[in-house]
Order: sequence, then C-alpha cells, then structure tokens
Amino acid sequence: MNQKEILLFGATGQIGRNLVRKLTKNNYKITAVTRNIHKAGYILKTQSNPGYLNLVELKNFNLEKIDELMKNVSICINLIGILYEKKKNDFKIIHTDLPDFLSQKANKYKLNKFIHLSSLGIEDAVESQYAQSKLDGEKKITKNFDRYIIIKPSIVYSVDDKFTTNFMSLLKILPIMPIYFEGKTKFSPIHVTDLVDIICKLIESKNKKLILECVGPEVFTFKQILEKLLYSINKKRLLVPLPLTLAKISAKILQLFPKPLLTEDQLNLLKYDNCLSGKYTNNFDLGFKTNKKFEEEISKYSYNWRTGGQFAKDNNLGNIK
Ligand SMILES: NC(=O)c1ccc[n+]([C@@H]2O[C@H](COP(=O)([O-])OP(=O)(O)OC[C@H]3O[C@@H](n4cnc5c(N)ncnc54)[C@H](OP(=O)(O)O)[C@@H]3O)[C@@H](O)[C@H]2O)c1
Repeated sequence: MNQKEILLFGATGQIGRNLVRKLTKNNYKITAVTRNIHKAGYILKTQSNPGYLNLVELKNFNLEKIDELMKNVSICINLIGILYEKKKNDFKIIHTDLPDFLSQKANKYKLNKFIHLSSLGIEDAVESQYAQSKLDGEKKITKNFDRYIIIKPSIVYSVDDKFTTNFMSLLKILPIMPIYFEGKTKFSPIHVTDLVDIICKLIESKNKKLILECVGPEVFTFKQILEKLLYSINKKRLLVPLPLTLAKISAKILQLFPKPLLTEDQLNLLKYDNCLSGKYTNNFDLGFKTNKKFEEEISKYSYNWRTGGQFAKDNNLGNIK
C-alpha cells in the first residue's frame, strides 16, 4: 500500500484546509470526502498542488463508497466536528458514531493509521453533550483499532478561524462585551500551522495507540485573550462579567440563531480550563514545540478589524507627500 495515500474527512474546515495545503506540497495524495464538491473545490483546489487532491462527494454517508475508499489508502484522518447541534447534525452521530464507524473500517482494511481530532479539556465536563460525545468517540476508536492517534488540541486560531475573527468582529461593534465565569477559564491557544506541523510529523512517525494533547506555548485566561484582541484592533471596550443566571438566559436566546455565538452546551463547557491535563502525553513530551506566539500571530491579521484598516495604526499613508 502506498504510504502517501491519505483519506481525509472534514477537509474543508479550518484545520483541514491548512492540512491539505501542507500535505499536498509534500507529495501526499489526498482523497477528500466532502458533502459539497463545489464548495470544497473552490476552497481546496486552489491550495493544493495539481494532481494531489481528489475530491469525492458524498451527500450522505454512503457506507459502500466509504468501504471502497478505505481499501485504497494507508491512512485515514477524521477532522469532522461540530460546535452546536442542528437538525440531523447531532453530537452523537458526528462525534461518536462516525469515528466508531471509520475506525471499524480502518481495522477491517488494516490501515497503518487512523488519526482523529478530538478536543482538550473535556474529561471533567460531564454537563456538556459536546464533551461527552467526543469522549465516547475516543473510547470507540481505542476499542476498534490499535493503530490510532487521537489529537486533543486547545483552541486553534488563525486568520481563517471561527474564534479570534468572530470575537474581533464583535469587539469592533459592541461597546460592552459580556464575559462568562468572570473570564477566568484558561486556554492554551495553538496556531493552526503549529498543529498541522504536528499532524504531519505524526503521519510520518511510528507512534501507535497515542492520545496526544496539543497546546501552544502560552496560557491565557479568556479575559486576557479578549484584552489581547482589543489591543490588537486598537479598541477599548468594557468586559463585563455576566452572572450565571443571566449567562444561561443569554445562551438560551443566542442558540436560536442559525450560527449561534453561544449555546447552553458551550456555556457548560466554558466552566472548565482548556489546558494540559497531565493525564495524557502532550506535544512537548514528544519534542513537538509550538513556537507561534498569540499576540504576534494575531497582529498579522487583526488590522482587518481596525478602524481604517491596515495602515490606520502606523498611519504610513500620512507620510506620503
Ligand atoms: N478549531 C478548533 O479550535 C478546534 C479545537 C479543538 C478540537 N477541534 C476539532 O478538530 C476537528 C476539526 O476542526 P475544525 O476547526 O477544522 O472544524 P471546522 O472548521 O468547523 O470544520 C468541520 C468540518 O466538518 C465537516 N462537517 C460538519 N458536519 C458534517 C456532517 N454532518 N457530515 C460531513 N461533514 C461534516 C465540515 O464540512 P462542511 O464544510 O461540509 O461543513 C468541515 O469540513 C473537529 O473535530 C473539531 O472538533 C477543533
């Protein structure tokens, strides 16, 4: 079996897009399964070296087709995940049943590796369906297949994320920003390129049966992250701690929106720190350093959210005579 043939689920997401770019540059042939070939085409085709990306459209999980695809690869990577439930997209199907199914197939076709993205900081969050479904998914994989690598990242950020970019948009327009649990929840943000480098090293490595926590080089509270974003977009805003009852009401309302900024389930998860737990191996244990510093990296794209855009802060244009 060709070591360089990879079957990828969730390629159109933030991590997937960045991973496809790096893997195809390094001569890996990717078969990316997508629900919408047109959307995936314009997102992914431009990023990959010609001939190295094969897009396969599966509107529903066509089990026979997945069987066929699994036969021809040595590695399967699953990046499919959701932050909130919607109609048929529920946490159990996406985070538990799908990895269960894929890891069974990985076993059936004797793949070299099944790499799966789970999440950090979910072990204690018993009130969160997101966390429990991710944990159940991990258990299914470890039961089904013995050449698994489960990666548990803290929050992943980049110019194309749904985290720093959404918060900068909100901070730009809202005079007051509510913060939950007094903004004390800790995160260890990891830049997407650092995470993608780790995934690529794990593809090459001989590691088996590995559950790996992945974090960036720094730890910040949620309040500190917002302060750094504010500084970077050159804005001053009030960060107001919301009492829990009000936070719950706001989550109940916000989750009615098509793309909710906060759900009750996310509020339940926000209670718990998103940092190394000490229960698993982490990226530093394996010598995988993550060098990208949060403030430095966000300053490379935060100008999009500053009043006046890129040149506003330095006022370079003012020097043109
Ligand atoms: N980004 C983070 O901060 C972070 C942190 C911890 C863990 N993770 C985990 O890492 C993985 C990748 O994250 P990401 O940020 O790249 O996610 P993302 O940007 O939200 O992308 C998720 C991917 O899942 C696919 N997907 C969603 N629902 C699906 C369904 N019903 N059927 C088929 N595909 C579906 C999406 O495809 P469409 O384009 O078709 O919607 C997309 O390709 C996820 O498992 C996530 O939980 C991410």
